[in-house]
Amino acid sequence: MKNRLNRSQVYYLVILLVLGLGLFLRIFMQQPRGLRHLAQSHDLEIGTAVSSWQLDDPEFIRRLLHDFSLITPENEMKFEVLQPAPGRYDFSGADKIVAFAENHGLHVRGHTLVWTNQLPEWLITGDYSREELLSILQRYIQDVVGRYRGRIQYWDVVNEALSPDGDIATNNFWMQRIGPDYIAYAFQWAHEADPNAMLFYNESYAEGKSLKSDGVITLVMELQEKGIPIDGIGFEMHTGLGWSPDPLEVAENMQRLRKLSMVVHVTEMDVRIVEPATNDDLDQQAKVYGEILQTCLEALNCSSFATWGMTDDHSWIPYVYPDSGSALIFFGNYEPKPAYYSMRDILEGK
Ligand code: G3I
Repeated sequence: MKNRLNRSQVYYLVILLVLGLGLFLRIFMQQPRGLRHLAQSHDLEIGTAVSSWQLDDPEFIRRLLHDFSLITPENEMKFEVLQPAPGRYDFSGADKIVAFAENHGLHVRGHTLVWTNQLPEWLITGDYSREELLSILQRYIQDVVGRYRGRIQYWDVVNEALSPDGDIATNNFWMQRIGPDYIAYAFQWAHEADPNAMLFYNESYAEGKSLKSDGVITLVMELQEKGIPIDGIGFEMHTGLGWSPDPLEVAENMQRLRKLSMVVHVTEMDVRIVEPATNDDLDQQAKVYGEILQTCLEALNCSSFATWGMTDDHSWIPYVYPDSGSALIFFGNYEPKPAYYSMRDILEGK
């Protein structure tokens, strides 16, 4: 009895609770919603490339989970990393990324099963016959896709296999050693290893109208004629100020792929700027990101939009093009850039 509240105490307690709830709702409602949440109403994934060590940084994780629903290992699912010696696998980085995604409800894009870059030395220099290479590749795809069966939603099965003229590139390890069939084999084996994963052909600089984007169409048609399973095309979208693809051409390209029942994912977008980037440059860059996002939203078959790294400090650009950088949507300190706000406005329908 002694501990019972009297009437005025109850009265004050109720008022406090109501005020507290009001304050909570006010703060909660004012919290800007991240890109991933805004994109949900458009059935769109927002993705970025990551490295496993970045997932130890609380600041990185906070920003990642606020804005992204899909992650792609930037390097840790490439052949040279996964199989550094014949038959010996190292899944440590890849496992960490997939486990992180599962624990936080993110999707994963597996990148990339068959590419001519980042192959291990033992494979390039080994004296293997065509038959032996086919069996190495089959085993590799079975092992890697099989390991993550049901846990990786999208695979970049074959990466950058075409030359600028739209033909299958001949300056390519797999083409030289196996021949053009390596592409069909790879899709078939990936499908067998995980029939539910969506399988993509991922290409660079083939987003607008060009011989190369015509080549992508031809490739899809040829695979389909042979009954080879393929679900979509990755538009890498590495661009720069002054030379980004015409959004109308990108839209047209998405549409002709839709006629072939292909889904399109923007897989690696960045817009590089010759340094030092001015405020005007950043505004121009925002326009490019906005145009491509808008084009993807308007296309009926574009369901994912990913950048190649999260902040300007995580970008490959300055390593390869030392005079350029500032290519992503966050500054190195995780502060959003104009490009971020442009994407947010578009997702909000502004
Ligand atoms: O990990 C080693 C390190 O041990 C070594 O000391 C250092 C010395 O150069 O190299 C490190 O490896 C580098 C690796 O990135 C990890 O940082 C490689 O040299 C470097 O070549 C590699 O670059 C990657 C590039 O693919 C290779 O082709 C980039 O990070 C990665 O962003 C880039 O991604 C590609 C996509 O996979 C496909 N589309 C194009 C895109 C951009 O090139």
